[in-house]
Amino acid sequence: MKTNHTDVHYLAGPEDLYPILLDEGLLSNVGQHLKRNGLSGSCALVTNPTVGAHYTEGVMQSLSQAGFRPTLCEISDGEQYKTLETVASLYDQFLAAGLDRKSPILALGGGVLGDTVGFAAATFLRGMPLVQIPTTLLAMVDSSVGGKTGVDLPQGKNLVGAFKQPALVLIDPEVLSTLPAIEFRSGLAEVVKHGIIDSPELFEALGDGKFTLLWMLDEAIRVKVRVVEEDPFEQGRRAVLNLGHTFAHAFEQLSNYELRHGYAVSIGIACATRLALNLNYCSPVEAKEILDLLDFLEMPIEVPDYSPDAVWQAMGTDKKKQAGRLRFILPQAVGKVDIFNDIPEAAVKEVLAQ
Ligand SMILES: NC(=O)c1ccc[n+]([C@@H]2O[C@H](COP(=O)([O-])OP(=O)(O)OC[C@H]3O[C@@H](n4cnc5c(N)ncnc54)[C@H](O)[C@@H]3O)[C@@H](O)[C@H]2O)c1
Ligand SMILES: [Zn+2]
Repeated sequence: MKTNHTDVHYLAGPEDLYPILLDEGLLSNVGQHLKRNGLSGSCALVTNPTVGAHYTEGVMQSLSQAGFRPTLCEISDGEQYKTLETVASLYDQFLAAGLDRKSPILALGGGVLGDTVGFAAATFLRGMPLVQIPTTLLAMVDSSVGGKTGVDLPQGKNLVGAFKQPALVLIDPEVLSTLPAIEFRSGLAEVVKHGIIDSPELFEALGDGKFTLLWMLDEAIRVKVRVVEEDPFEQGRRAVLNLGHTFAHAFEQLSNYELRHGYAVSIGIACATRLALNLNYCSPVEAKEILDLLDFLEMPIEVPDYSPDAVWQAMGTDKKKQAGRLRFILPQAVGKVDIFNDIPEAAVKEVLAQ
């Protein structure tokens, strides 16, 4: 059984080192953890009604007890609200709360909320201290760590954003007890992704089930930290974290965001794997291993019923283009992926038609 874990990682950001705390029960001591990390004064706790129903009261109480003056701010729940309108509504709430430039902004929620609030924190008064408190599996292992924030435009996902390293990330796995099972499974796609990118041990463990939740979170976060530290502004290697995402963003967009991000990523990883196989970059044995694990974890691997032309066109609005060319991350084997900017359109469409 894999159980080892350390409670804290430090991510060396471009300006600063910031702690990522991981442990059960952290949420009930949020105030103390913020204080210990040099934060104080007025602060804004941003959440949505779904997450807030479970956790607002406890967090607000912990903040007050630690001497903060917290204001509760709310935004609507759902990818359809990951918009500039929601960001504007946050600016209004921050102004009404009388925040100053040192007031921490806490994002308590999943990836949608963390991305939106992170962008508001990056831009309000030219940047406020941001505390990410992720409450979904996806947000814990991926979106809360690494500093990418942003919102969607009608034309495509995450088209407006900023790099905003948080002052602190607080990850309390206990909150996953209220997360619907379907959301947990969706988040597993990013865990599998991290295994394929840089942790054969994590990949293998997911298949045999002999690990604790804390170990899995710890291992998945380690991969993210390693990749981000090497390339904080995505000038090169960090793009590997987009494994499956060129496909995924097109599927999400075509579904009007009804398809969950993690599920889209799972199908995207399957597509990237088949593409790698067709191009003889990946062996049939390696490809089967990846597709089998996704299937074993009950994640979708079949392409939704969109025409290859429609998917190709939707991919064209994805911002992961380099010099006008689409960029694909392909697995060669578990633990080894590479970035490609010259995949022929026909090869991509072949996979979409499979
Ligand atoms: N910034 C990045 O680097 C990065 C990386 C990966 C994904 N993302 C983004 O993350 C988003 C997807 O995030 P997500 O999968 O977390 O979805 P989400 O934020 O929509 O959360 C899923 C649902 O679960 C609810 N929820 C969250 N925590 C809960 C809890 N503990 N108990 C009960 N309900 C809870 C949410 O309110 C929501 O209804 C996408 O917009 C994607 O683009 C960003
Ligand atoms: Zn993702």
